[in-house]
Amino acid sequence: MRLIAIAALGFFIFSCAPDKPQNQEDFPDQPKSTKSAVEDVINDPTKGIGAVKSVTLNSPLEQDRVKRGLAIYEMKCSACHKLDDKRVVGPGWKDVTKNRKPEWIMNMITNVDVMLEKDPEAQKLLELCLMRMPNQNMSIGDARDVLEFMRQNDGEK
Ligand code: HEC
Repeated sequence: MRLIAIAALGFFIFSCAPDKPQNQEDFPDQPKSTKSAVEDVINDPTKGIGAVKSVTLNSPLEQDRVKRGLAIYEMKCSACHKLDDKRVVGPGWKDVTKNRKPEWIMNMITNVDVMLEKDPEAQKLLELCLMRMPNQNMSIGDARDVLEFMRQNDGEK
């Protein structure tokens, strides 16, 4: 059963991966969840569904991450997301870090297919935008970098 799941995941990753994740950094401190996705939502709906269970934010901002996050944004996200509050294809990113938990944002970035299927907040966005955000093949490290860039965009220092 588990082998099939891994094989399916592998196929999925290779079949629709446009390009490799940039930041291969591990996040080994993520507790292994034994719960199902549905239980995740019931336990803490504000954190979304996926591998990211807890994120530590530092102040001041980590400038290396901001720089990498900006580069990823320009390459993979800017076609659909603007940095102000205007929706283009997807919602503008202004204040996204104030309205959502960091865990939710990173799960949305790294686990978008499941989020759109099961997370109530992601589904509300889908109803609004009428288009599914494509899987951008982002590692957790990439997502953390983009999150740092979003924090800067929201005025954090
Ligand atoms: C082809 C268009 C497209 C691209 C490219 C895209 N997105 Fe999205 N994104 C969307 C749409 C549309 C939504 C709203 C949910 C839905 O309808 O799927 C969304 C939603 C989001 C949200 C939730 C926003 C909120 O207001 O809560 C985040 C975070 C996000 N995207 C991050 C990213 C990141 C990071 C990238 C680049 C690595 C990216 N997206 C690339 C279309 C896109």
